[in-house]
Amino acid sequence: MNTLPPISAERLVDLLRTAPKAELHIHIEGSLEPELIFALSQRNGIAIPYASVDELRRAYAFSNLQSFLDIYYAGASVLITEQDFYDMAWAYLLKAQADHVIHTEIFFDPQTHTARGVAMKTVIDGLYRACQDAQAKLGVSASLILCFLRHLSEEDAFATLEDALPHRDQFIGVGLDSSELGHPPEKFARVFARCRELGLHLVAHAGEEGPPEYIWSALDVLKVERIDHGVQSTHDAALMKRLAAERIPLTVCPLSNQKLCVFPNLADHNLGRLLDAGLCATVNSDDPAYFGGYMNDNFLQTFAATGLTAQHAYTLMRNSFEASFLAPAAKRAMLDRVDAAFLA
Ligand code: HPA
Ligand code: ZN
Repeated sequence: MNTLPPISAERLVDLLRTAPKAELHIHIEGSLEPELIFALSQRNGIAIPYASVDELRRAYAFSNLQSFLDIYYAGASVLITEQDFYDMAWAYLLKAQADHVIHTEIFFDPQTHTARGVAMKTVIDGLYRACQDAQAKLGVSASLILCFLRHLSEEDAFATLEDALPHRDQFIGVGLDSSELGHPPEKFARVFARCRELGLHLVAHAGEEGPPEYIWSALDVLKVERIDHGVQSTHDAALMKRLAAERIPLTVCPLSNQKLCVFPNLADHNLGRLLDAGLCATVNSDDPAYFGGYMNDNFLQTFAATGLTAQHAYTLMRNSFEASFLAPAAKRAMLDRVDAAFLA
């Protein structure tokens, strides 16, 4: 990585906004804005227990991960048709383009939908069509990662994998999300082993609220290639050393961590410590409709609160592509675009 020329505070803000970046931790159901929830509830005749968009938005005051998940699953209940899934993903992809996200790897939670009687094909076809249109019409490269809900059983995860396999060419990997505490990675050892045999990329949420031990077992038992969140790793020096030495990416989500009270304030966030320790940390939005911002909001607010530098910004943008599952040539081309923005 190159050393940067001097960069003013003003220029840094401009770079945070306009430099090319990859987003690797976005739950598409978490991009569902209250306005779209209401529009879809009317379109599909599905009642939701909030009288207005404002009342729904006022409910977005969370004390921990579970308090968020309860509302997040309620919001997703308005999604029924292939077009609903398309519209949700397309709205996100437009925001991504506006934030100069040129590549995104999008999580989706099929069990949230199949449990309500929505077919796997409906979910995947709608999301996938939006990803294809994003490449063709927006110049945004987008792929899908299927997440298993960890509060459900491994058996349920296996059934979900079976259900999804006819669509194997429409998603690039699997992840693990939902309620972390009490649901350690090793609960899903066998299904992740099967996904590995199938050649799928593997990621898992670990160390968001859960202890460093969950990060160790995500790596050693599930054999994941990236850790989603991972911010609890700073409590374990040996883990920090390993993450740095092996360049295992952490997909960090600062505004999410603030809203779910993982850190008392954004100013207390440990992103700078992770970067300064040589970890491949990245910035992501997680559930932007619920946590107060998309990619550029995460960058701008975090830099304003923590005093991270232009060198950190450059590192974060490069890390986002290094950590991606892009093919080598595409990865190199996008890294060159980051260099062009910062070294100009
Ligand atoms: N953590 C766990 N599960 C989730 C999250 C998260 O931040 N967002 C959506 N599902
Ligand atoms: Zn997440």
